[in-house]
Amino acid sequence: MSARELRGGPAADALLADARTRLSDLSATPHLHVIRLGEDPASVSYVRLKDKKAREIGLHSTVHALGEETSEEALLELIGTLNHDEHAHGILVQLPLPRHVSTEPVIAAIDPFKDVDGFHPSNVGSLWSGLPGLPPCTPAGVMAMLAHYGISAAGRRAVIVGRSNIVGKPLAALLLRADATVTIAHSRTPDLAQVTRQADLLFAAVGRAGLITPEMVQEGAVVVDVGINRVRGPERDRLVGDVHPDVATVASAMTPVPGGVGPLTVAQLLANTVRAAELQHY
Ligand code: GUN
Repeated sequence: MSARELRGGPAADALLADARTRLSDLSATPHLHVIRLGEDPASVSYVRLKDKKAREIGLHSTVHALGEETSEEALLELIGTLNHDEHAHGILVQLPLPRHVSTEPVIAAIDPFKDVDGFHPSNVGSLWSGLPGLPPCTPAGVMAMLAHYGISAAGRRAVIVGRSNIVGKPLAALLLRADATVTIAHSRTPDLAQVTRQADLLFAAVGRAGLITPEMVQEGAVVVDVGINRVRGPERDRLVGDVHPDVATVASAMTPVPGGVGPLTVAQLLANTVRAAELQHY
């Protein structure tokens, strides 16, 4: 078998087209504020992409590029100012933060109605309770991609490898809501292959290049690779996923890396920003 390639671009375009339509129904243009501390190269490039794509679909976008040495107090003060600014509809603090800043209080300080990352405890609670709220971008983007390609999770066994707050756990909540039977495996799971072979839908989100090999995958499974790993090539670095390319010989459908889940994260962020403005009654 050679897996059908699930490319993220067309699914992301469909999400963006929907966000653009909803944008035209708003009385004011939503404004996204992205805060970045320090110069971590990956964060710099992700934030640049978010800003560029936001402008492309017609949102206002401001990047607050603060120094690495910015104090937690100063960051909390900026978040407080944006919380009270009626022209700031979405607030995102790029992670990871420098070591001297604690992530949890910073996320908890963001107004949940402006929390376009969906990381605030109130949005996490809403997600698990099935209440309306803002969902985390990567997992919600993955669900949008499955829907775009007509892949239903209902009644199917889903296995997620990885238990992060950004991907693994919220993805489990969304798959449960979509009526899948969900297992979360992680670095302490014994006999990982025995667990992953149960999956009709297999999601890899651990950040270990090539971790998932063909013998870990059930014939005909749908495999979604959320990993992005930089590996040294003979001439320059390459990006590879958590799923070994040979899995395509076993899976019925599979996302490439790059060009798979990646574009969905940014598209979902912009959809969340439009949603946040709607929630703020524009
Ligand atoms: N760093 C890596 N992924 C993310 C994300 O989805 N949101 C934020 N804020 N930071 C990240």
